[in-house]
Amino acid sequence: MALVSLKDYEKRACDIIPPIALGYFRSGAGDELSLKLNRICFDRLRIRPRMLNSSASRDMTANLFGQRYAVPFGISPMAMQRMAHPEGEVANAKAAASRGAGFTLSTIATSSIEEIAAGAPNSPKWFQLYIYKDRKLTESLVRRAEKAGFKAIVLTVDAPMFGLRRSDMRNKFSLAPHLTLANFEGHLATSVQSKGGSGINEYVTQQLDPTLSWEDVKWLLNFTKLPVIVKGILTREDAIIAVDMGVHGIWVSNHGARQIDSVPASIEALPEVVAAVGDRTTIVMDGGVTEGTDIFKALALGAKMVFLGRPTLWGLAVDGQQGVEHILDILRKELDVAMALAGCKSVADISRNHVAHESTYAKL
Ligand code: LAC
Repeated sequence: MALVSLKDYEKRACDIIPPIALGYFRSGAGDELSLKLNRICFDRLRIRPRMLNSSASRDMTANLFGQRYAVPFGISPMAMQRMAHPEGEVANAKAAASRGAGFTLSTIATSSIEEIAAGAPNSPKWFQLYIYKDRKLTESLVRRAEKAGFKAIVLTVDAPMFGLRRSDMRNKFSLAPHLTLANFEGHLATSVQSKGGSGINEYVTQQLDPTLSWEDVKWLLNFTKLPVIVKGILTREDAIIAVDMGVHGIWVSNHGARQIDSVPASIEALPEVVAAVGDRTTIVMDGGVTEGTDIFKALALGAKMVFLGRPTLWGLAVDGQQGVEHILDILRKELDVAMALAGCKSVADISRNHVAHESTYAKL
């Protein structure tokens, strides 16, 4: 069967990715209520198309932190991508570069900062940071990202420990021995081996700082010249603290629903964050994005860039870099058609009035 949607890729990828890795990639925390909400809540939004405002082509470019992107979407940080394909993060970064999309490298990647810089040298890339107990090591990751030409640091603030993902517990998740956490070669353990439970949770408990606090945000802001985006914000309260502290961007995310189950879908939390700080900072989001119309909806609600994670892993598993390029092409086409049929000539034309919650129509 031809692959024409991101869901087609997911089905195909499920037959390709080995079960332990697939369990890790697919799962959310707990009973996976928030994982379902990430999808359902996009489906609860309706697009309100405007007519007779058509154009021969649409301008999809986005500008963030001084960089230009050909499309207003990008790839979220995800750990250990070589479990999906031998070229892992490098193929994902190259695909993003070839399509002018954003790309964010995970700290816990199976390709290093330097490998990504060499593989996709001329595209704007962001580096996702976890705060390790070893602050010197943490700072050195930021220095390496700066040196390698990354354009922003994405500080994940929702993971002082990891959420409880049942597949990983059942499978006693370990990273296959031929793969390594490439950013730590020569500095720290590079393997993830279960000692009886989820190996990744055991790794995180051992290495990441469980006392993560706003002081760490200040610490990072003080020493890096790169823009700092805090990722994992779901409330107006935290958004205000972050912006008052001087962060450059907010990434509204529930971490692929992998941390606390029962948190809102990212798309549900987005409007509250935009209302609180949208006029003072750059807001991006991820969580459940599977359709071009999802990107349209998130842009309408105030995101400046919309990120997606798992679907690019499905593309990667099916056909490496080309598979991810096809995923990005499908999204570009779907977004283009949505913009064309909703009367939007550019991303800036996509307004709050272009979406409504289904309850608006419920009385009918
Ligand atoms: C996870 C981390 C690596 O969700 O972000 O598994």
